[in-house]
Amino acid sequence: MLLLTIETTCDETAAAVISDQLEVLSSVVASQDAIHKRFGGVVPEIASRAHVERILPVIDEALRKADVRLADLSAVAVAHTPGLAGSLLVGLTAAKALCVAGGLPLLAVNHLQAHIYACRLASGRDVFPCVGLVVSGGHSNLYRCEGPTDFTPIGGTIDDAAGEAFDKVASLLGLPYPGGPSLERVARAGNPHKYRFPRPLLDDETRLDFSFSGLKTAVRYQVVGTGKRDAQPMGNAPPHSRQTQKPLPESEVADIAASFQEAVVECLVSKAELALRKTGYRTLCVGGGVAANSRFRAQLQASAQANGYELHIPPLNLCTDNAVMGAIAIERMRAGLFEDLSLDIRPGPERTARPGR
Ligand code: KG4
Ligand code: ZN
Repeated sequence: MLLLTIETTCDETAAAVISDQLEVLSSVVASQDAIHKRFGGVVPEIASRAHVERILPVIDEALRKADVRLADLSAVAVAHTPGLAGSLLVGLTAAKALCVAGGLPLLAVNHLQAHIYACRLASGRDVFPCVGLVVSGGHSNLYRCEGPTDFTPIGGTIDDAAGEAFDKVASLLGLPYPGGPSLERVARAGNPHKYRFPRPLLDDETRLDFSFSGLKTAVRYQVVGTGKRDAQPMGNAPPHSRQTQKPLPESEVADIAASFQEAVVECLVSKAELALRKTGYRTLCVGGGVAANSRFRAQLQASAQANGYELHIPPLNLCTDNAVMGAIAIERMRAGLFEDLSLDIRPGPERTARPGR
């Protein structure tokens, strides 16, 4: 049996053809990085227009590379939550149209659960039950994953996502978009212990939550406090607004980047360890764009070794957005969890139920 998977939750237009034995016949990802670069971040309206232009060529290419036609497929799966509303609508509409045209059943993919399922694909064997940690541009969530169709959110960020903090701090340091990989690159030359940035909620053993906005502000004060640059708003201010300002010395940028990265990584690893202790599970599956960060990967590996749990992190191309991870829909197909054409987008955000929020 063959499945076509479609992914348009943010700024990547992606499609893949996968067999029910989890064999990947094709995978196509059209990135919009070049389009959003000059704005310093993803512009939702532009992202959805770009998806409209690319969705059919991307699906065609995925079918052609797999050497299959619509009639050869058994179902179509689409990521319908969470994400940017306009972007999600393009993928969902294309999936529904193909289902109608080919008389095919429709399957729903939760993008965050798919990020965790990438670990199942990469390892080639069962990873459940496990703790799932998804760290992306829009989310930093912890899950109790009892099985591939049974995910319970147990923690998450109370403000910025980890990837969002990477992107905003990179922008503050004048590093090119996309910020996460740029920041990682310059951090390699920096001293991660030069500055002790705050690690919010780190010592609170009662909570599996993250908070990165205070950390981001602390970095901002460090940058402003050097006197080398004027105060400027956080976020994705266009690069030209800074061109008149005197740049920080390269070594200072590297030290701030490395110290910031260290603080984020420590928070993520420490809460993942806490989630493992609380659930009693012995397996951790990590996914999402930030899981491509090599310092994070190294610290997770050290933690797994020190604490004796099994760690799964997908290769880099399965950490960032792709359609292959939509193979989680095969598990839903096996469980008979089909959708009808009333399936709607659910932009999110997906949050842990928490009293008083
Ligand atoms: O999962 P993803 O591709 O898209 C979303 O679903 O958001 O994650 C994108 C996020 C961005 O914030 C990007 O800066 C971050 O992942 N990212 C990284 C790295 N590569 C991507 N953050 C830190 N280090 C990296 N190497
Ligand atoms: Zn993602």
